Amino acid sequence: MARDDNFIVSVDIGSRKTVVLLAEEVNGRLEVFGHGISESSGVKKGLINNVNQAAQAIKKAADEAYLSCNTDFHHVSVNISDPHLTVFNREGQIFIAGDEISEQDLDAAIKTARAVPTPTNKQVINSVSNCYTLDKDPITHQGVVVDQPIGQEAKTLEVAMHIVTVSNQCVNTIDQSIRTSGLGLHNIVLNSMASSEAYITQDEKDSGVCLIDIGAGVTNLSVFTKGGITYSAVIQNGGDQITQDISDAFDASFEEAERLKLKYGNAQVKSIREDGLIKFQQIDDSKGCEHYLSHQSLVEVIEQSYLSLFSKIRQNLKSQKLYRSLDSGFVLTGGASKMKDCDALLLSCFRIRAKQGCVNTDRITAERSILEPEYACALGLLLFEYEESDLRVIQEDNGSNIFGKIKEQFKF
Ligand SMILES: Nc1ncnc2c1ncn2[C@@H]1O[C@H](COP(=O)(O)OP(=O)(O)OP(=O)(O)O)[C@@H](O)[C@H]1O
Ligand SMILES: [Mg+2]
Repeated sequence: MARDDNFIVSVDIGSRKTVVLLAEEVNGRLEVFGHGISESSGVKKGLINNVNQAAQAIKKAADEAYLSCNTDFHHVSVNISDPHLTVFNREGQIFIAGDEISEQDLDAAIKTARAVPTPTNKQVINSVSNCYTLDKDPITHQGVVVDQPIGQEAKTLEVAMHIVTVSNQCVNTIDQSIRTSGLGLHNIVLNSMASSEAYITQDEKDSGVCLIDIGAGVTNLSVFTKGGITYSAVIQNGGDQITQDISDAFDASFEEAERLKLKYGNAQVKSIREDGLIKFQQIDDSKGCEHYLSHQSLVEVIEQSYLSLFSKIRQNLKSQKLYRSLDSGFVLTGGASKMKDCDALLLSCFRIRAKQGCVNTDRITAERSILEPEYACALGLLLFEYEESDLRVIQEDNGSNIFGKIKEQFKF
């Protein structure tokens, strides 16, 4: 891709920050060459509640991104974190008229799978093909599973798809915010799907893995089993709830609670070997008294707050019966996953492997600060868009291609 006509731009509208990244392909991987970051406004728990404010934050980040690389851009890919999303895993089967499967046959199978009855207030945003089966027997349900069906000889083709629908209202506010900021909306991608692009390997997807992106206002989950995505969810709880719990427990302002969290925080009380006193400011302390809290009591509040988030994750996974199919365990990302020992607490809570994720720099690279967990979604949006850049790209047999499986998108 040449920079002048073929770079990709992502916009991550988060509850805390809005990020704009520009990337181009260099020797088979994406390189981020421009970025801009602004404080979000008009966004609560992942949802835009004030279009004009959100647009201003987008514009600010976009202007900064322009200045960072002197490159003009218009069309962008944006994230969505709709707590009312619905996910379907559907199969579409068709008979093959000719000797071998053509691109048109594949299109027809995908269309059949995607033909889900959608309520009038919802729309399909992402649909991902997870698996192709040739000549599936209607009685035994056995067939030949292939990575790439085009050109193969078969009488029938079945495609298994993961389909995500979100509310029109949520899509409309994103569309309006992007347009009001002066940009054009090219694509909307589910936050958790985007974050997993940069963080999860194919081996992990094959053996079963759950990506957890703990942001400021929401926690996004994506579960992969047998190589493909099988479940996505949004929990309206994130790092800001941890700060709020500290603020409530010690009668401190949100800003003071955030300072305490970042400076002295740890997710596990057992990691605090020696207790000590921490000086802090209470709300409405007009007399200027000095206040102290014990380090251990601060960490107790933080641990309880993370455990309450983890129990929501557990309920979600249990309801989907996915809890036991995660051989590669949990991969953590998002700003609030940077809390010390967050992965250790998750491991002791679920008794399933848990690790702090890191960006797969064979696929995408950027300056160090952008490889931090809070940029997982913005980086993943770029990878998602890259794989889509020819609308649909077929994985090469030798596995050296960085493109993933065939994906279909709603294009704006
Ligand atoms: N070192 C750290 N330790 C603990 N928490 C942290 C750390 N750094 C950032 N956070 C928390 O991470 C959160 C911000 O994360 P992030 O930037 O991923 O959110 P966002 O993408 O803006 O929001 P969301 O995805 O929820 O809409 C804040 O709650 C912040 O307090
Ligand atoms: Mg986020």
